[in-house]
Amino acid sequence: MAFNLKGRHFLTLLHYTPEEIQFLLDLAKTLKQNKRMGIYGDNLKRKNIALIFEKSSTRTRCAFVCAVNDEGGNAEYLSVNDIQLGGKESVEDTARVLGRMFDGIEFRGFKQETVEKLAQYAGVPVWNGLTDMYHPTQILADLLTVIENFGSLKGIKFAYFGDARNNMGNSLLIGCAKMGMHFVSCAPKELWPQKELIETCQKIAEETGAILEFTDDPKKAAKDSHVLYTDVWVSMGEENQPGIKERVEKLRPYQINMDLVEATGREDAIVLHCLPAVHDKEISHEAFESKYSKVFDQAENRLHTIKAVMVATI
Ligand code: CP
Ligand code: NVA
Repeated sequence: MAFNLKGRHFLTLLHYTPEEIQFLLDLAKTLKQNKRMGIYGDNLKRKNIALIFEKSSTRTRCAFVCAVNDEGGNAEYLSVNDIQLGGKESVEDTARVLGRMFDGIEFRGFKQETVEKLAQYAGVPVWNGLTDMYHPTQILADLLTVIENFGSLKGIKFAYFGDARNNMGNSLLIGCAKMGMHFVSCAPKELWPQKELIETCQKIAEETGAILEFTDDPKKAAKDSHVLYTDVWVSMGEENQPGIKERVEKLRPYQINMDLVEATGREDAIVLHCLPAVHDKEISHEAFESKYSKVFDQAENRLHTIKAVMVATI
């Protein structure tokens, strides 16, 4: 079924229904197949896209640039060192200026509040390319990768290990709740998602039939899981925060390694990581390089899913 998402922002998956998320995944699949066959669209022809980055990026930046180019548009990379955002000029003013020139704006940075303010004032679609709180475009790529491996999202047990209250832990919880999956957040208790977010997702789960679990027991989380997922133990901007060394020590038992893959009891289990990965910290080099690892399919899917978001919302 086709949905009209024109003019919509993409700030968190909380704002999207399961049907709309499925529509974006279906569109991404089609765009991926087309690209494989050498069929390029002009869905973004003569469209100008601003890419604002407060934090560094390989995948997200390159996915936006390549997706815009594939669809005949133009992307402009704006690091916060190049523009006045938040320093000399307020977010509100920058949003209104960019909105007069560009047809869509991607923002990656620290505060969720900043991307929301951009959306409030820009007058054109604004997409969240990662904040401290959420990373919604990543989740689309992750879900597409799950579909490619298992045919569907229904009945999938998806276990996340590590810092379960960072942007990835939060966004995967929302995405899996929305899509009616069995999601396990596995971390030391103090790194579980915030109570309010858990309650919100439990309400979503009542509607979608999702099962949401929170545990500090990695073997229990891994058992029967189709997907083992992890992310860095120290996110961008946290490097010099107090207590980081202690956090890393606490997270050591939550590493994805071959023992954990074996604990799934599934020969078809897959290992995912949003990347960049710190080998032999959150994921063993062996598991990263194993046949179970689909991390580069997942990275490629950033391109197709981000393209789908832009094509659908512009
Ligand atoms: N996964 C991801 O967002 O990667 P980048 O930080 O390289 O964009
Ligand atoms: N949690 C990580 C995700 C990187 C894609 C970070 O914010 O650095």
